[in-house]
Amino acid sequence: MANSTSGDSVTDRLVRVLETFTPTRTVQTTAEIGRRAGLPSSSAHRIVGELVEAGLLERDEDRRVRIGMRLWELATRSSRALRLRQAALPFMERVQSRVREHTQLAILEQDEALFLERLSSPASGSNVTRIAGRLPLHASSSGLVLLAFGDRELQERVLAAPLHPLTAATLTDPAAVRRKLAEIRTLGHAVAPGFIEEVATGIAVPIRDETGRVIAALSVVLPRDAQPEFAIVELHRAARDIERSLGYRH
Ligand code: PHB
Repeated sequence: MANSTSGDSVTDRLVRVLETFTPTRTVQTTAEIGRRAGLPSSSAHRIVGELVEAGLLERDEDRRVRIGMRLWELATRSSRALRLRQAALPFMERVQSRVREHTQLAILEQDEALFLERLSSPASGSNVTRIAGRLPLHASSSGLVLLAFGDRELQERVLAAPLHPLTAATLTDPAAVRRKLAEIRTLGHAVAPGFIEEVATGIAVPIRDETGRVIAALSVVLPRDAQPEFAIVELHRAARDIERSLGYRH
């Protein structure tokens, strides 16, 4: 359904508008949205106006635009994410209260780790993870778990692309990542010391469905120098309980 001189469809344009919002860019002017979506000003004003009308976007008193509650409501009904998140929450709370550091739930989405939930307490240390935010597969503990237990094509695709460093400790050599993935499969968990940020160590374990396929990763973010053993035990226990609560038996 092409509707413009450039030949892109209404849906393309809507998606481009919505994708200008990121975990750190949640409020924008219509002009900024238009520029970032590559749309002429008149189209940007029309599309944003229609989306505001439908409740999918909202305007504040300064006419700046953010994602609307109606869009949150529809998106949160995503059955896959909702079911997993609801099953995981009680056990994430147990991990969080016993380990007393950030606890996250992530799934694989478009070759990245997408975070469905994060629990923290005021005393928890540094953590860049955001709910509905993403981290690269090769750099985060959750991403490494999803990659290690993911299919062959995913691994080859990710390892063939540039592996960007986030710190001096991030693994950027495909051979080193392959060794790390083999280690994760052997140990059953991932430890990523300083890969995402110098001051933190990510630790993650897989959550499996009844066929044994890994459907998610459960992780904690500890201060870099913390001992990981207790967190690893708690994460494994929580992963088993989440699998059981989803009705999966191994
Ligand atoms: C990780 O999962 O490896 C991770 C995530 C967020 C951080 C640090 C580490 O801030």
